[in-house]
Amino acid sequence: MSKKPLILGIESSCDETAASLITENEQKNPVVLSNIISSQVDVHKEFGGVVPELAARSHIEKIDSIVKKAINDSGRKINEIDAIASTAGPGLVVCLSVGLSFGKTFAASLNKPFIAVNHLEGHALSPKLNSDLKYPYLLLLISGGHSQFLSVQGLGKYKRLGTTIDDALGEAFDKTAKLLGIEFPGGPQIEILAQKGNPNKYDLPKPILNKGGCNLSFAGLKTAVLKITKNIKTEQEKFDLAASFQKTIEEILYKKTKIAFKEFEKLNKTEKKIFVVAGGVAANKKIRIMLKKLCNEEDYLSMFPPIELCGDNAAMIAMVGLEKFKLKKFNNFDHPAKPRWALDEDAIFLKGAGVQL
Ligand code: KG4
Ligand code: ZN
Repeated sequence: MSKKPLILGIESSCDETAASLITENEQKNPVVLSNIISSQVDVHKEFGGVVPELAARSHIEKIDSIVKKAINDSGRKINEIDAIASTAGPGLVVCLSVGLSFGKTFAASLNKPFIAVNHLEGHALSPKLNSDLKYPYLLLLISGGHSQFLSVQGLGKYKRLGTTIDDALGEAFDKTAKLLGIEFPGGPQIEILAQKGNPNKYDLPKPILNKGGCNLSFAGLKTAVLKITKNIKTEQEKFDLAASFQKTIEEILYKKTKIAFKEFEKLNKTEKKIFVVAGGVAANKKIRIMLKKLCNEEDYLSMFPPIELCGDNAAMIAMVGLEKFKLKKFNNFDHPAKPRWALDEDAIFLKGAGVQL
Protein backbone atom coordinates (compact mmCIF):
# COMPACT_ATOMS: atom_id res chain seq x y z
CA MET A 1 0.00 0.00 0.00
CA SER A 2 1.61 3.27 -1.14
CA LYS A 3 1.54 6.33 1.09
CA LYS A 4 -1.37 8.58 0.23
CA PRO A 5 -0.74 12.32 0.01
CA LEU A 6 -1.62 14.26 3.15
CA ILE A 7 -2.43 17.90 2.43
CA LEU A 8 -2.94 20.78 4.86
CA GLY A 9 -5.29 23.47 3.50
CA ILE A 10 -5.49 26.99 4.95
CA GLU A 11 -8.17 29.60 4.21
CA SER A 12 -8.28 33.25 5.37
CA SER A 13 -9.51 35.25 2.35
CA CYS A 14 -12.43 36.95 4.10
CA ASP A 15 -14.10 36.38 7.47
CA GLU A 16 -13.49 32.67 8.09
CA THR A 17 -10.23 31.34 9.52
CA ALA A 18 -10.08 27.70 8.47
CA ALA A 19 -7.71 24.73 8.27
CA SER A 20 -8.24 21.18 7.05
CA LEU A 21 -6.30 17.99 6.42
CA ILE A 22 -7.30 15.74 3.57
CA THR A 23 -5.93 12.58 2.08
CA GLU A 24 -7.06 9.86 -0.38
CA ASN A 25 -8.42 6.36 0.03
CA GLU A 26 -7.37 3.29 -1.98
CA GLN A 27 -9.88 4.22 -4.72
CA LYS A 28 -8.16 7.63 -4.95
CA ASN A 29 -11.23 9.43 -3.60
CA PRO A 30 -10.52 12.35 -1.26
CA VAL A 31 -11.06 11.81 2.46
CA VAL A 32 -11.52 14.80 4.79
CA LEU A 33 -9.67 14.03 8.04
CA SER A 34 -10.41 17.34 9.73
CA ASN A 35 -12.18 20.55 8.82
CA ILE A 36 -11.98 23.42 11.31
CA ILE A 37 -13.78 26.70 10.57
CA SER A 38 -13.84 29.70 12.85
CA SER A 39 -16.33 32.32 11.70
CA GLN A 40 -16.00 36.00 12.59
CA VAL A 41 -19.70 36.82 12.25
CA ASP A 42 -19.80 38.22 15.79
CA VAL A 43 -16.83 40.52 15.11
CA HIS A 44 -18.50 42.17 12.09
CA LYS A 45 -22.18 42.00 13.04
CA GLU A 46 -22.39 45.47 14.53
CA PHE A 47 -20.86 47.01 11.39
CA GLY A 48 -23.26 45.29 8.97
CA GLY A 49 -20.40 43.89 6.87
CA VAL A 50 -16.81 42.65 6.98
CA VAL A 51 -14.30 45.22 8.30
CA PRO A 52 -10.94 44.25 6.70
CA GLU A 53 -8.70 45.47 9.53
CA LEU A 54 -10.73 43.65 12.19
CA ALA A 55 -10.91 40.54 10.03
CA ALA A 56 -7.12 40.47 9.57
CA ARG A 57 -6.56 40.94 13.30
CA SER A 58 -8.90 38.08 14.09
CA HIS A 59 -7.12 35.79 11.56
CA ILE A 60 -3.78 36.60 13.20
CA GLU A 61 -5.16 35.78 16.64
CA LYS A 62 -6.68 32.46 15.60
CA ILE A 63 -4.59 30.95 12.84
CA ASP A 64 -2.12 29.05 15.09
CA SER A 65 -4.81 27.39 17.16
CA ILE A 66 -7.02 26.58 14.15
CA VAL A 67 -4.17 24.86 12.28
CA LYS A 68 -3.12 23.05 15.46
CA LYS A 69 -6.67 21.80 16.00
CA ALA A 70 -6.94 20.67 12.36
CA ILE A 71 -3.76 18.61 12.77
CA ASN A 72 -4.86 17.18 16.14
CA ASP A 73 -8.33 16.25 14.87
CA SER A 74 -6.89 14.53 11.81
CA GLY A 75 -5.13 11.96 13.99
CA ARG A 76 -1.94 12.50 11.96
CA LYS A 77 1.48 13.81 12.92
CA ILE A 78 2.82 17.12 11.68
CA ASN A 79 5.74 15.48 9.88
CA GLU A 80 3.39 13.27 7.86
CA ILE A 81 2.08 16.32 5.95
CA ASP A 82 3.21 16.26 2.31
CA ALA A 83 2.28 19.78 1.20
CA ILE A 84 0.69 22.99 2.45
CA ALA A 85 -1.94 24.76 0.35
CA SER A 86 -3.05 28.30 1.23
CA THR A 87 -5.61 30.58 -0.40
CA ALA A 88 -3.67 33.30 -2.25
CA GLY A 89 -6.66 35.16 -3.71
CA PRO A 90 -9.07 36.63 -4.56
CA GLY A 91 -10.09 38.35 -1.34
CA LEU A 92 -9.07 41.04 1.12
CA VAL A 93 -5.32 41.45 0.83
CA VAL A 94 -4.77 41.97 4.56
CA CYS A 95 -6.70 38.77 5.28
CA LEU A 96 -5.13 36.69 2.51
CA SER A 97 -1.66 37.66 3.72
CA VAL A 98 -2.25 35.97 7.10
CA GLY A 99 -3.01 32.46 5.79
CA LEU A 100 -0.57 32.82 2.93
CA SER A 101 2.38 33.80 5.12
CA PHE A 102 1.47 31.14 7.65
CA GLY A 103 1.33 28.47 4.95
CA LYS A 104 4.65 29.50 3.40
CA THR A 105 6.40 29.57 6.76
CA PHE A 106 4.94 26.21 7.73
CA ALA A 107 6.04 24.69 4.40
CA ALA A 108 9.53 26.16 4.72
CA SER A 109 9.96 24.86 8.27
CA LEU A 110 8.82 21.35 7.29
CA ASN A 111 10.77 21.52 4.02
CA LYS A 112 7.61 20.57 2.10
CA PRO A 113 6.11 22.04 -1.08
CA PHE A 114 3.91 25.12 -0.90
CA ILE A 115 0.81 25.46 -3.12
CA ALA A 116 -0.98 28.77 -3.76
CA VAL A 117 -4.72 28.22 -4.30
CA ASN A 118 -7.35 30.34 -5.99
CA HIS A 119 -10.27 30.52 -3.54
CA LEU A 120 -12.75 30.31 -6.44
CA GLU A 121 -11.11 27.13 -7.67
CA GLY A 122 -11.66 25.79 -4.14
CA HIS A 123 -15.41 26.38 -4.53
CA ALA A 124 -15.27 24.96 -8.07
CA LEU A 125 -13.72 21.69 -6.85
CA SER A 126 -15.68 21.43 -3.58
CA PRO A 127 -18.14 18.79 -4.92
CA LYS A 128 -15.12 16.51 -5.45
CA LEU A 129 -15.03 16.14 -1.68
CA ASN A 130 -18.20 14.04 -1.71
CA SER A 131 -18.59 12.76 -5.27
CA ASP A 132 -16.71 11.32 -8.18
CA LEU A 133 -16.74 14.46 -10.30
CA LYS A 134 -15.01 14.33 -13.68
CA TYR A 135 -14.08 17.14 -16.07
CA PRO A 136 -15.54 18.83 -18.06
CA TYR A 137 -18.52 20.31 -16.23
CA LEU A 138 -20.61 23.44 -16.16
CA LEU A 139 -20.20 25.42 -12.95
CA LEU A 140 -22.51 28.00 -11.43
CA LEU A 141 -20.48 29.75 -8.76
CA ILE A 142 -22.71 31.84 -6.51
CA SER A 143 -21.03 33.40 -3.48
CA GLY A 144 -20.81 36.69 -1.61
CA GLY A 145 -18.34 38.15 -4.07
CA HIS A 146 -18.90 36.28 -7.34
CA SER A 147 -21.67 34.99 -9.58
CA GLN A 148 -20.49 33.24 -12.71
CA PHE A 149 -21.19 30.43 -15.14
CA LEU A 150 -17.95 28.69 -16.13
CA SER A 151 -17.09 25.77 -18.33
CA VAL A 152 -14.55 23.81 -16.29
CA GLN A 153 -12.28 21.92 -18.69
CA GLY A 154 -9.72 20.71 -16.15
CA LEU A 155 -7.62 21.82 -13.20
CA GLY A 156 -6.88 25.53 -13.78
CA LYS A 157 -8.75 25.49 -17.11
CA TYR A 158 -11.81 27.70 -17.02
CA LYS A 159 -13.87 29.42 -19.70
CA ARG A 160 -16.26 32.02 -18.37
CA LEU A 161 -19.65 31.86 -20.08
CA GLY A 162 -21.43 34.50 -18.04
CA THR A 163 -20.91 36.73 -15.03
CA THR A 164 -22.78 39.31 -12.98
CA ILE A 165 -22.42 42.80 -14.36
CA ASP A 166 -23.04 44.37 -10.93
CA ASP A 167 -23.80 42.71 -7.55
CA ALA A 168 -22.96 39.12 -6.68
CA LEU A 169 -25.95 36.95 -5.76
CA GLY A 170 -24.87 36.56 -2.11
CA GLU A 171 -24.46 40.33 -1.93
CA ALA A 172 -28.04 40.77 -3.27
CA PHE A 173 -29.33 38.38 -0.56
CA ASP A 174 -27.35 40.24 2.13
CA LYS A 175 -28.47 43.70 0.96
CA THR A 176 -32.13 42.64 0.84
CA ALA A 177 -31.77 41.19 4.33
CA LYS A 178 -30.24 44.44 5.59
CA LEU A 179 -33.15 46.44 4.15
CA LEU A 180 -35.50 44.09 6.01
CA GLY A 181 -33.62 44.77 9.23
CA ILE A 182 -31.90 41.37 9.40
CA GLU A 183 -28.40 41.17 10.86
CA PHE A 184 -25.37 40.50 8.62
CA PRO A 185 -24.95 38.03 6.94
CA GLY A 186 -28.65 37.87 6.20
CA GLY A 187 -28.68 35.58 3.13
CA PRO A 188 -29.54 32.38 5.04
CA GLN A 189 -32.23 34.26 7.03
CA ILE A 190 -34.03 35.38 3.85
CA GLU A 191 -34.47 31.74 2.93
CA ILE A 192 -36.02 31.03 6.34
CA LEU A 193 -38.35 34.07 6.35
CA ALA A 194 -39.41 33.31 2.78
CA GLN A 195 -41.02 30.07 3.96
CA LYS A 196 -43.66 32.10 5.84
CA GLY A 197 -44.48 34.51 3.00
CA ASN A 198 -46.50 34.79 -0.18
CA PRO A 199 -44.03 34.66 -3.13
CA ASN A 200 -46.55 36.32 -5.47
CA LYS A 201 -47.19 39.39 -3.34
CA TYR A 202 -44.54 41.66 -4.87
CA ASP A 203 -43.52 41.86 -8.50
CA LEU A 204 -39.75 42.42 -8.52
CA PRO A 205 -37.63 43.17 -11.62
CA LYS A 206 -35.53 40.55 -13.38
CA PRO A 207 -32.72 42.63 -14.88
CA ILE A 208 -31.29 41.56 -18.29
CA LEU A 209 -33.47 38.42 -18.26
CA ASN A 210 -34.01 38.54 -22.01
CA LYS A 211 -30.62 39.82 -23.11
CA GLY A 212 -26.92 39.40 -22.38
CA GLY A 213 -26.81 35.59 -22.79
CA CYS A 214 -26.16 33.98 -19.41
CA ASN A 215 -24.76 37.14 -17.84
CA LEU A 216 -26.52 38.15 -14.65
CA SER A 217 -27.59 41.38 -12.94
CA PHE A 218 -29.04 41.85 -9.47
CA ALA A 219 -28.54 45.55 -8.64
CA GLY A 220 -32.04 46.53 -9.85
CA LEU A 221 -33.60 44.20 -7.30
CA LYS A 222 -32.00 46.07 -4.43
CA THR A 223 -33.52 49.37 -5.63
CA ALA A 224 -36.96 47.76 -5.98
CA VAL A 225 -36.70 46.15 -2.54
CA LEU A 226 -35.67 49.50 -1.04
CA LYS A 227 -38.83 51.18 -2.42
CA ILE A 228 -41.09 48.44 -1.07
CA THR A 229 -39.50 48.33 2.40
CA LYS A 230 -40.38 52.02 2.88
CA ASN A 231 -44.07 51.03 2.91
CA ILE A 232 -43.78 47.80 4.87
CA LYS A 233 -45.72 47.87 8.13
CA THR A 234 -46.30 44.29 9.24
CA GLU A 235 -44.16 41.21 9.85
CA GLN A 236 -46.25 39.34 7.28
CA GLU A 237 -45.32 41.91 4.60
CA LYS A 238 -41.68 41.32 5.50
CA PHE A 239 -42.12 37.57 4.97
CA ASP A 240 -43.93 38.26 1.69
CA LEU A 241 -41.05 40.39 0.43
CA ALA A 242 -38.48 37.74 1.41
CA ALA A 243 -40.59 35.10 -0.42
CA SER A 244 -41.01 37.31 -3.50
CA PHE A 245 -37.24 37.96 -3.57
CA GLN A 246 -36.44 34.25 -3.25
CA LYS A 247 -38.89 33.38 -6.04
CA THR A 248 -37.51 36.11 -8.35
CA ILE A 249 -33.96 34.80 -7.86
CA GLU A 250 -35.12 31.26 -8.66
CA GLU A 251 -36.79 32.48 -11.86
CA ILE A 252 -33.66 34.39 -12.95
CA LEU A 253 -31.39 31.42 -12.26
CA TYR A 254 -33.76 29.00 -14.03
CA LYS A 255 -33.77 31.04 -17.26
CA LYS A 256 -30.05 31.94 -17.19
CA THR A 257 -28.97 28.38 -16.39
CA LYS A 258 -30.95 27.11 -19.38
CA ILE A 259 -29.00 29.54 -21.58
CA ALA A 260 -25.71 28.49 -19.95
CA PHE A 261 -26.52 24.83 -20.74
CA LYS A 262 -26.71 25.68 -24.45
CA GLU A 263 -23.43 27.61 -24.32
CA PHE A 264 -21.72 24.78 -22.45
CA GLU A 265 -22.94 22.28 -25.06
CA LYS A 266 -21.43 24.38 -27.86
CA LEU A 267 -18.02 23.96 -26.19
CA ASN A 268 -18.32 20.38 -24.92
CA LYS A 269 -19.63 17.41 -26.83
CA THR A 270 -19.74 15.08 -23.83
CA GLU A 271 -22.39 12.41 -23.47
CA LYS A 272 -22.77 12.87 -19.74
CA LYS A 273 -23.54 16.54 -19.07
CA ILE A 274 -22.70 17.67 -15.54
CA PHE A 275 -23.87 20.82 -13.75
CA VAL A 276 -22.15 21.83 -10.51
CA VAL A 277 -23.47 24.56 -8.21
CA ALA A 278 -21.03 25.87 -5.58
CA GLY A 279 -20.38 28.86 -3.30
CA GLY A 280 -22.23 30.16 -0.23
CA VAL A 281 -25.59 30.63 -1.98
CA ALA A 282 -25.52 26.99 -3.14
CA ALA A 283 -26.62 26.22 0.45
CA ASN A 284 -30.05 27.70 -0.39
CA LYS A 285 -32.33 24.66 -0.42
CA LYS A 286 -35.02 26.07 -2.70
CA ILE A 287 -32.41 27.12 -5.27
CA ARG A 288 -30.97 23.58 -5.09
CA ILE A 289 -34.39 21.98 -5.62
CA MET A 290 -35.22 24.26 -8.55
CA LEU A 291 -31.86 23.64 -10.26
CA LYS A 292 -32.15 19.87 -9.71
CA LYS A 293 -35.55 19.96 -11.40
CA LEU A 294 -34.11 21.90 -14.33
CA CYS A 295 -31.32 19.33 -14.65
CA ASN A 296 -33.87 16.52 -14.82
CA GLU A 297 -35.73 18.35 -17.57
CA GLU A 298 -32.55 19.05 -19.57
CA ASP A 299 -30.80 15.71 -19.03
CA TYR A 300 -27.98 17.07 -16.86
CA LEU A 301 -26.51 15.41 -13.81
CA SER A 302 -26.63 17.93 -10.94
CA MET A 303 -23.92 18.02 -8.28
CA PHE A 304 -23.71 20.14 -5.14
CA PRO A 305 -21.13 20.20 -2.36
CA PRO A 306 -22.51 19.11 1.03
CA ILE A 307 -24.33 22.10 2.61
CA GLU A 308 -21.58 22.54 5.24
CA LEU A 309 -18.95 22.87 2.48
CA CYS A 310 -20.83 25.50 0.43
CA GLY A 311 -19.51 28.40 2.52
CA ASP A 312 -15.84 29.21 2.92
CA ASN A 313 -13.77 26.34 4.29
CA ALA A 314 -10.26 24.92 4.03
CA ALA A 315 -11.20 21.39 2.90
CA MET A 316 -11.92 22.82 -0.56
CA ILE A 317 -8.54 24.59 -0.53
CA ALA A 318 -6.84 21.32 0.45
CA MET A 319 -8.81 19.62 -2.39
CA VAL A 320 -7.21 21.94 -4.96
CA GLY A 321 -3.89 21.38 -3.14
CA LEU A 322 -4.29 17.62 -3.53
CA GLU A 323 -4.92 17.84 -7.29
CA LYS A 324 -2.00 20.24 -7.76
CA PHE A 325 0.25 18.09 -5.58
CA LYS A 326 -0.38 15.05 -7.78
CA LEU A 327 0.62 17.11 -10.82
CA LYS A 328 3.61 18.58 -8.92
CA LYS A 329 2.25 22.09 -9.47
CA PHE A 330 4.06 23.86 -6.64
CA ASN A 331 4.65 27.55 -6.02
CA ASN A 332 7.58 29.62 -4.85
CA PHE A 333 7.60 31.39 -1.52
CA ASP A 334 7.42 34.76 -3.28
CA HIS A 335 3.93 34.00 -4.61
CA PRO A 336 1.93 37.19 -3.93
CA ALA A 337 -1.50 37.63 -2.36
CA LYS A 338 -3.80 38.43 -5.27
CA PRO A 339 -6.87 40.49 -4.28
CA ARG A 340 -8.20 40.00 -7.84
CA TRP A 341 -7.68 36.60 -9.42
CA ALA A 342 -10.17 35.52 -12.07
CA LEU A 343 -10.59 31.84 -12.89
CA ASP A 344 -10.72 32.71 -16.58
CA GLU A 345 -8.00 35.33 -16.88
CA ASP A 346 -8.78 35.84 -20.59
CA ALA A 347 -12.39 36.88 -19.97
CA ILE A 348 -13.09 40.58 -20.42
CA PHE A 349 -14.00 42.79 -17.48
CA LEU A 350 -17.79 43.13 -17.52
CA LYS A 351 -18.90 45.36 -14.70
CA GLY A 352 -20.33 48.80 -14.08
CA ALA A 353 -22.34 51.39 -15.96
CA GLY A 354 -22.11 51.33 -19.73
CA VAL A 355 -21.40 47.61 -20.03
CA GLN A 356 -22.25 46.43 -23.57
CA LEU A 357 -24.08 43.10 -23.55
O1 KG4 B 1 -18.86 31.41 -0.51
P1 KG4 B 1 -19.16 32.25 0.68
O2 KG4 B 1 -19.19 31.60 2.04
O3 KG4 B 1 -18.15 33.43 0.79
C1 KG4 B 1 -17.62 34.06 -0.33
O4 KG4 B 1 -16.64 33.53 -0.90
O5 KG4 B 1 -18.22 35.08 -0.71
O6 KG4 B 1 -20.58 32.94 0.41
C2 KG4 B 1 -21.17 33.79 1.35
C3 KG4 B 1 -22.50 34.29 0.80
C4 KG4 B 1 -23.12 35.36 1.69
O7 KG4 B 1 -23.53 36.45 0.88
C5 KG4 B 1 -24.31 34.64 2.32
O8 KG4 B 1 -25.37 35.49 2.67
C6 KG4 B 1 -24.71 33.70 1.20
O9 KG4 B 1 -23.46 33.23 0.69
N1 KG4 B 1 -25.53 32.58 1.68
C7 KG4 B 1 -26.82 32.36 1.32
C8 KG4 B 1 -27.24 31.20 2.02
N2 KG4 B 1 -26.19 30.75 2.79
C9 KG4 B 1 -25.15 31.61 2.56
N3 KG4 B 1 -27.62 33.03 0.49
C10 KG4 B 1 -28.87 32.55 0.32
N4 KG4 B 1 -29.35 31.46 0.97
C11 KG4 B 1 -28.58 30.76 1.82
N5 KG4 B 1 -29.06 29.69 2.45
ZN1 ZN C 1 -16.01 31.81 -0.90
